[in-house]
Amino acid sequence: MKLSRANSISGKLRLPGDKSISHRAALIAALADGRSEILNFSTAADCASTVNCLKELGVSVTREQGKLIFAGNQRLVAPRHPLDCGNSGSTLRILAGVLAGQDFTAELTGDESLSSRPMRRIIEPLELMGAKIESTDGKAPLKIHGSSKLTPITYKLPVASAQVKSAILFAGLNAPGRTTVIETSPSRDHTERLFNGFGVPVTTNADLSVTIDGPARFHGGAMTIPGDVSSAAYFVAAAMLLPESQLTIEGVGLNPTRAAFLSVLNSWGANISTSDVQTERNEPFGTLDVRGGIRKTASETYRSLRQPLIPSLIDELPLLAVVGSQIDGGIRIRDAAELRLKESDRLAATAANLRAMGATVEEFEDGLAVSGPTRLRGAFIDSFSDHRIAMAFAVAALLADGETEIAGAECVAISFPEFFNLLESLARR
Ligand code: S3P
Repeated sequence: MKLSRANSISGKLRLPGDKSISHRAALIAALADGRSEILNFSTAADCASTVNCLKELGVSVTREQGKLIFAGNQRLVAPRHPLDCGNSGSTLRILAGVLAGQDFTAELTGDESLSSRPMRRIIEPLELMGAKIESTDGKAPLKIHGSSKLTPITYKLPVASAQVKSAILFAGLNAPGRTTVIETSPSRDHTERLFNGFGVPVTTNADLSVTIDGPARFHGGAMTIPGDVSSAAYFVAAAMLLPESQLTIEGVGLNPTRAAFLSVLNSWGANISTSDVQTERNEPFGTLDVRGGIRKTASETYRSLRQPLIPSLIDELPLLAVVGSQIDGGIRIRDAAELRLKESDRLAATAANLRAMGATVEEFEDGLAVSGPTRLRGAFIDSFSDHRIAMAFAVAALLADGETEIAGAECVAISFPEFFNLLESLARR
C-alpha cells in the first residue's frame, strides 16, 4: 500500500460495530435463552473467527439483511475439528472461559502470531476452577477438558487484561457460587456491561473487583453494536494533525475504558467534542466532532502515559506514539510491557517505523519516549502483519514528505477491512 501527504481529513461517517463488543455479544447470544438479533456486527476478521468457532460448536447463526440472528436455547456440542481462532486473542482467551464450563473436550488453535502469545494467564485461573487444559509450554494450541460444574474462585489478575477477566466471568456462569476477579488497573468493561444488559448481574466494586454469582443464564434480545472507537481513533488522530480537517463520526462507542485516548489527545491540544450520548445495553455511544489543528495552549496532563491509564489506552498506544512525534516536547509511554505481547511486539515495531520516518525515539523495556515535533519523511514501513501498526503508520504517512509504502497492509482486515477505502474517501489532497 502506497500513501502520500494529505491536507485534511473531512467528512461525516459511521463505523462498523466495535470488535470487542461484537465478540462478547456473539458469545452471549450463543449461550442465551431465547433468540437474539445483533445489528452492526463488526466486519473484522477476528469477529468472523468467533462466529465460525461458535458454528463449529453447533450454534445456529444466520445473517439476514446485515443482522446476525442467533436462535438461542441451544446447548454447545463437542466440535469435530480444532476451533481456529485465527489471529484473535479475544476469541481464543474468552472462548476458553466458555469451554471451561462445558462437559466436553475442545481444541483451540490460531495463526503463528496467536500461537506465540502467552496463555498461562487463562490456563491458571480456569484450572483453579476445575477445567483441565493441555498446552504447548503455555501457548496455543490449547486442549480444554471442561466441566459444567466448575468451582467459583477469587482471583487477582497478575496483569491487567480484559480478555482474562472475561474468560473467568464466562466460566463463572457455570460455577455455583460467587466468582470474583480483582484487577490492579481497570481494563475494558464490556463483559460486565453486557452481562448486566442481557440479564446476568455482575457487580463492580470500588476496590476494582468484579463479582458474578453462578449458575446464571442470559436472556437473548436485540442489540445494535456501537461503532468501533479504536477504529475511529485513526481518523480522529489524522483529523487532529491536519489543520484544515473537519470530521464527524456518528454512533461511535464512548465507553470510558476505551475512549481515554480522546482526553489524552485533547490535553495535547486537539479539538475533539462529543455529543448526543445514548446507551445500548449499558454501552455508551454518541457523536464525535474533530476540528483540525493542535492548540498552542496544550496542557501537560498526559504528556507521560503510565499506569493506571495504560489498559484503557492499550490498543491506541502505537497511534499515540505517532501523534506524540508532532507534539511540542514529545511524549513518554511507560508501564506498557504488555505491548510486546500483542499481535506483534508493538513497542519494537512502533520504534523502528517512527525512526524510519525520521523521528527520534528511545525504547525502554516497558515503553517509548518520542521526541517532538518532528517533520516526518515518507519511508518503507513494516506492518509486522499487525493491523494496528499498519493503521497507525497510515496516519503518519498523511503527514510525511514524499511517499510511504506499508508492507503487509492487508492485515488491517483483522479489525477494519474498510480502513484504506474510507481513509482515501476522507482525505483531501
Ligand atoms: C481486548 C482486550 C485487550 C486488547 C484487545 C482486545 C478484549 O487485550 O488489547 O485488542 O476484547 O478484551 P488484553 O486483555 O490482553 O489486554
